[in-house]
Amino acid sequence: MISLTQATLLSVLFGSALGAFYTDPSQLTKKTYDFIVVGGGTAGNVVAARLSENPSVSVLVVEAGVSNTGYRSELVTIPFLGPQASVNSPFDWNYTTVPQAALNNQVLPYYRGYVLGGSSSTNFLTWTRGAKDDWDKYATLIGDSSYSWNNMLKYFKKSETWQHPVDGHSTAGQYNPAVHGTNGPIGVGVTPQLFPIDSRVIKTTQQLSSEFPFNLDQNSGKLLGVGWLQSDVKDGARSSSATGYLTPAVNSRKNIDVLIQTRVTKLVRTGTSGGLPEYKSLQIAQTPTSNPITLTAKKEIILSAGSINSPQILMLSGIGDPSTLKKAGVNATVSVPDLGKNLQDHPLIFAQWHVPDNASTFDPISLNEDPNALTNALAQWTANRTGVLSSIGSNHIGFFRLPDNSPVIKKYGDKSAGPGSAHYELAWQNGFVSVGQPFPTSGKYISNIHVLNAPTSRGYIAINSADPFKAPTIDPNFFSTDFDLQTMIYAVRSAQRFIRAQAWSGYALSAYSDSAAMFAPNSTDADVIAYIRKWTQSIKHPMCTAAANKDSSKGVVDANLKVRKISGVRIVDASVFPFIPSSHPVAGIYGLAELASDKIKSAYGL
Ligand SMILES: Cc1cc2nc3c(=O)[nH]c(=O)nc-3n(C[C@H](O)[C@H](O)[C@H](O)COP(=O)(O)OP(=O)(O)OC[C@H]3O[C@@H](n4cnc5c(N)ncnc54)[C@H](O)[C@@H]3O)c2cc1C
Ligand SMILES: *[C@@H]1O[C@H](CO)[C@@H](O)[C@H](O)[C@H]1NC(C)=O
Ligand SMILES: *[C@@H]1O[C@H](CO)[C@@H](O)[C@H](O)[C@H]1NC(C)=O
Ligand SMILES: *[C@@H]1O[C@H](CO)[C@@H](O)[C@H](O)[C@H]1NC(C)=O
Ligand SMILES: *[C@@H]1O[C@H](CO)[C@@H](O)[C@H](O)[C@H]1NC(C)=O
Ligand SMILES: *[C@@H]1O[C@H](CO)[C@@H](O)[C@H](O)[C@H]1NC(C)=O
Repeated sequence: MISLTQATLLSVLFGSALGAFYTDPSQLTKKTYDFIVVGGGTAGNVVAARLSENPSVSVLVVEAGVSNTGYRSELVTIPFLGPQASVNSPFDWNYTTVPQAALNNQVLPYYRGYVLGGSSSTNFLTWTRGAKDDWDKYATLIGDSSYSWNNMLKYFKKSETWQHPVDGHSTAGQYNPAVHGTNGPIGVGVTPQLFPIDSRVIKTTQQLSSEFPFNLDQNSGKLLGVGWLQSDVKDGARSSSATGYLTPAVNSRKNIDVLIQTRVTKLVRTGTSGGLPEYKSLQIAQTPTSNPITLTAKKEIILSAGSINSPQILMLSGIGDPSTLKKAGVNATVSVPDLGKNLQDHPLIFAQWHVPDNASTFDPISLNEDPNALTNALAQWTANRTGVLSSIGSNHIGFFRLPDNSPVIKKYGDKSAGPGSAHYELAWQNGFVSVGQPFPTSGKYISNIHVLNAPTSRGYIAINSADPFKAPTIDPNFFSTDFDLQTMIYAVRSAQRFIRAQAWSGYALSAYSDSAAMFAPNSTDADVIAYIRKWTQSIKHPMCTAAANKDSSKGVVDANLKVRKISGVRIVDASVFPFIPSSHPVAGIYGLAELASDKIKSAYGL
């Protein structure tokens, strides 16, 4: 339940809204809308905002989580605090994985946004669209050229407005203006805060240019190489689907309403349409014991609850793999065997290096070595939204391939989407960063993430109960293939070559803690594997659990993202991707949601 102060704050923030903003189902003045969007997250808010552009259409967004402007909203607003938006915060679902067999049976946290904006309000703000080859392969697998890079580029541009950095530095040579949007809802730009390590990274791209070439703009379709990291930050603050799409729509239109702190618990069959069972109603509830209320969509229901919860809601409705449903105590009414299967995610490991004590890093803030450092940074951010807090702490990112003649490729073949698609990623942070490792209390560091971008491991999500308030079972099944393990070993060796470049001499002094064995000149694969098994985390990119496929016997949705075998329901979120892109996914999810909005508008002549 919402506290009085939060309620007051919300009425202030949404006081001028034309659409309604509800925090309790009893406040709804009608039970029927043209479209009901399930989940006010990344993709859901795009669809709701675009459909409501037509004033004759009524749209309701139902979001399980809380407002993005209430209690502790600084965590979902200040970019540098992004990593704290999930851990023990009001904005997360608090999911965990099943024990991961390849990771010494560890149970991993599995963050998901529980807030307007969904995971776009809690993520780490890295903005990459994927490689041209990723999208062209989607088009082939889905059998619809609208998913190809050349068609998607207009949707990528439509979602963004390029930002000039708040610190006023020149961005010449840091991005390619021709591939960016100038009139879209999400603010995107390169860093507003330059770091002393930036010049060393750029020097490395010159000294070791064959392995680590510079790429002017990784969002041009050409993903590979090292570039200036782009992030979804506008005027020094996080730009999410809540701030960019939903709030402006609700503030300016009468035909879009939002209900938060309320879960959709299942879909309800409303009849038969075109020979298929039709599901145009759904049930909502705020607590496990409250009486469910039924709402109805005149046109259709859009499921945008994300890769975990969109499949969960369908399964709770009796749609899915009959054996999974039976075990959970739900009667199977529609058999969709692939639902919840094919879960793909990017595993990552962090590693850190000690740097000289006089280096200028953000450790005084993040290790809490100097309480004044945070106070001062907050004062600066509050004054004019500049400084380290307006940044995400990382200015460069690189996407790479295994060499064609590498033993991994020779043994297993190329598992990426094509020669322009990445097998792995490295990115550098100007201080100590980690998920999972205990933080040191002193010192100065540079951190490096290593990400597996073309994983072959496949996991699943499944309900384990008919209770919609119980967490589903989540298994990313990390490193269940040797290809994945060998690729990550290669990524670590590659990072080791990067940091040994002459550009880092006298700066990257020694490897931190137990990465020392892995980064030692004489380290063995076993040293690297031990580190991987101990420290792997999810980068939190679960996708593909309700994949689109042109073959009606495969996947869950068709090329128009309609759930096969039933009528009245479409899925628009990360779950419909046929395979995970070889980059961070959120920019691609915005693009896909823009495309889906056009598909829905054209289906109804809107
Ligand atoms: C901690 C973290 C860091 C990440 N970092 C990055 C990054 O730097 N760059 C990047 O590209 N990607 C990143 N990602 C991934 C990216 O943010 C997600 O892939 C993307 O936001 C997912 O979009 P979506 O629309 O599928 O789901 P979401 O944005 O998660 O939206 C789903 C929404 O549905 C709501 N919902 C769920 N169940 C119900 C229900 N039963 N009833 C009503 N509402 C419901 C949820 O509360 C949520 O608001 C990160 C993710 C996390 C969690
Ligand atoms: C997750 O835990 C936090 C407290 O750490 C809580 O505020 C939040 O409501 C929880 N999320 C859910 C979905 O219960
Ligand atoms: C499942 O179906 C059976 C037989 O139709 C019925 O008796 C039972 O109540 C149903 N269970 C649920 C959970 O709906
Ligand atoms: C740190 O100290 C070293 C050695 O004294 C010196 O060469 C370097 O310029 C100093 N760096 C900074 C950022 O002050
Ligand atoms: C922002 O404020 C800080 C001090 O709080 C100041 O040093 C800096 O120059 C200001 N930047 C801009 C762009 O106004
Ligand atoms: C690598 O060298 C270090 C010291 O030079 C030594 O302690 C370590 O045992 C060596 N490791 C292997 C696997 O040979």
